[in-house]
Amino acid sequence: MELYGTQTVNGQGHLMIGGVDSVDLAHIYGTPVVVYDTALIRERAAGFQAAFRKMGVQAQVAYASKAFSSVAIYQLAAEEGLSLDVVSGGELFTAVQADFPRERIHFHGNNKSYMELNFAFDEKIGCIVADNFLELGMISEIAQSRKQTMKILLRVTPGIEAHTHEFITTGQEDSKFGFDLKNGQADEAFRRAADMPYVEVLGLHCHIGSQIFETEAFTHAAHSLMEKMKAWRDEHGFVCSVLNLGGGFGIRYTDEDRPLEPMQYAEEMAEVVSGLSEEWGYPMPEIWIEPGRSLVGDAGTTLYTAGSEKQVPGIRTYIAVDGGMSDNIRPALYDAKYTAAAAQQMHSPHDTRVTIAGKCCESGDKLITDATLPRLQEGDLLAVFCTGAYTYSMAGNYNRLPRPAVVFAEEGHHQLVIRRETYEDLTRLDLPLQQKVRKGQ
Ligand code: LLP
Repeated sequence: MELYGTQTVNGQGHLMIGGVDSVDLAHIYGTPVVVYDTALIRERAAGFQAAFRKMGVQAQVAYASKAFSSVAIYQLAAEEGLSLDVVSGGELFTAVQADFPRERIHFHGNNKSYMELNFAFDEKIGCIVADNFLELGMISEIAQSRKQTMKILLRVTPGIEAHTHEFITTGQEDSKFGFDLKNGQADEAFRRAADMPYVEVLGLHCHIGSQIFETEAFTHAAHSLMEKMKAWRDEHGFVCSVLNLGGGFGIRYTDEDRPLEPMQYAEEMAEVVSGLSEEWGYPMPEIWIEPGRSLVGDAGTTLYTAGSEKQVPGIRTYIAVDGGMSDNIRPALYDAKYTAAAAQQMHSPHDTRVTIAGKCCESGDKLITDATLPRLQEGDLLAVFCTGAYTYSMAGNYNRLPRPAVVFAEEGHHQLVIRRETYEDLTRLDLPLQQKVRKGQ
């Protein structure tokens, strides 16, 4: 079994994460608990940055924090010199709580409200990624009324859609995000934005998909956006200083996934952009990227405790754990695949086929169909790997299950960064039924 990051197995056959025994973590914090190997996050952040440095390219690596948003992870991102991509007032508020350097915050979203935009202006964030004509108008209105300049990127859809190993190019991309690059929308957005006082256009942005394993789709997108930038220079004499190519770099959930080194994506993008800028005499733009999953995904492991077992003779055995779709909706929502191990019995043969079910009242609440594990007994610890991205951030309280605790582990130290929800937390927003107003009174 291929482990992740700093994970090892100690003499007792226990899974170690960040130099800490997972069995101890389960005792201290209870289960389910999501444990992050923060050294791996730091390594990934440094890897992306080093790739651009090696190529001599000015770059910003922004953590796409929708993958996992919390005060502590934002503080870690700041420590590592990352920028931050937020997509809502709530994520921006979390960034403010973490005192994240405002000039490195980028604000995304396809339907930002006046309240959210004003919040971004109040905090003087680095830039807003403008997504549509309504938003452009709102930004202009706010900027003028405050006489406060806001930097923006124009989000465009280049007609490239990439998922895992394949990408397709379509004439007209069917997407709710951004200005279409090919049908004139992006040009119109540029014309409007260029005329807006207090609005400074930095450049273009695109995001072509998620969990992508090859570089061609990215280099193709870089090429399309550079062509548009060149056209605007030739027609309007305008030069973009930033080219943001989004996120989407794939990770290994199961042995079938064979991701590239994060560096490779960065290097190949930088190569295409610097090649074209040389060829066209276009001043080299800063390259920005926005990895989410590839920074935090495989750094996270969820520890669960096994509970009931149900055998369906001749078909399968279900082992239920103390969490499920409430803390990881991805298998139910996307048919996402995960691997797991018995955290206390890593040396035992993993040769029994079982299906790991959650405890929610929903037949589809299965975390792993046909996992290969030792014979788990009630009380045994189960580690589900690669749960660092889009799990806690998409968690809910279905069946009023409290959301799990989140812990950081590094070099033998561990720290709670999100405490487990309590039953009191679950009813905190509830208000009691009021006495009905009687008819006729
Ligand atoms: N930038 C933009 C504008 C994005 O929309 C996203 C992800 C990212 C960056 C980061 O992509 P990443 O590097 O994490 O692939 N809930 C889904 C994934 C949704 C991705 C949404 N946008 C999942 O669990 O697979």
